[in-house]
Amino acid sequence: KWVVACLLMIFIWVTGCAKHNMSVLDPQGPVGKVQLNLLYLSTGIMTFVVIVVAVIYIYVVVRYRERPGDEEKDPPEQVAGSKKLEILWTSVPILLLIVLAIPTISTTFTLNKKPDPDHSIRINVIGYQYWWGFEYPDYKVTTSNEVHIPTGKKVEFILKAHDVIHSFWVPSLGGKEDLTPGRTTRLVLQADKPGIYEGKCTELCGASHALMRFRVVAHQPEDFEDWIASQVTPDSTPKNKQAEQGRRLFAQNCIGCHAIRGAGYKVLGRTAPELTAFSERTRIAGVLDNNRANLKSWLKNPQGIKPGNRMPAFDHLTDQQVEAMVEYLETLK
Ligand code: CUA
Repeated sequence: KWVVACLLMIFIWVTGCAKHNMSVLDPQGPVGKVQLNLLYLSTGIMTFVVIVVAVIYIYVVVRYRERPGDEEKDPPEQVAGSKKLEILWTSVPILLLIVLAIPTISTTFTLNKKPDPDHSIRINVIGYQYWWGFEYPDYKVTTSNEVHIPTGKKVEFILKAHDVIHSFWVPSLGGKEDLTPGRTTRLVLQADKPGIYEGKCTELCGASHALMRFRVVAHQPEDFEDWIASQVTPDSTPKNKQAEQGRRLFAQNCIGCHAIRGAGYKVLGRTAPELTAFSERTRIAGVLDNNRANLKSWLKNPQGIKPGNRMPAFDHLTDQQVEAMVEYLETLK
């Protein structure tokens, strides 16, 4: 029964990961593939060591165990220090470490190489408690919690932390790399196929660390250009009367922290996710499916959904006012 239960759990776990494009064991790009090979190599070496040690251990325990009548016999010859054995068990681990170190070091340097600027794109990543900001310096485009990339191209992520240490990990593409305050780190990734790849913060950074998720959306290069173009000139005009009321409420309540490019008011220092073309995001705050009901719950009780984040609850607004804001945000393209 227990074996079946365990197998079932492993099955659910493995298939669950595959479905969400979040498995190191199913890499979707060259970086992930190279890293998986290293993983196999180190797992192979470790398995070899475990098997050799286990076999010797079991053999010695069985072969030299106490047998009836042993008490009367003289103790066997006592030896300490065998030059042959000492050399053997010192040199074998050294050899194994060398076999592991050479590909690990060379891969680390190869993967960290600055990609050719003509065949790659640069994206700045800023980690905040508990969301991700993304900037495309070559296009003057910004987004949050969802980063779009072209397939078949190296993407150089330049990582910075706004407050505490975070860590950037997209299991099926490769990683991970820490974001440390006061330092800039880099991670080069590439996706082979269009799709959505789940990402996570993997450095404990506070109450909502586990909810500090993001998505990598990979497009064919021409679709990526379309996405960039739509982001360069976003349509931020309210689409109807309710949305216009929502825009006014947004201007009164939200622009201290949130930005919407092209919405007609000055965007000061950003400390909260940028909301340009919000209706096109697949998620709200990186955790909820993007739909009107969820957005309403989020606006009313952000602390209940992502504890410790900086967004206050807007409980001084009436239901009708919250709905107007939802209408405005969910029609931003
Ligand atoms: Cu950011 Cu954990």
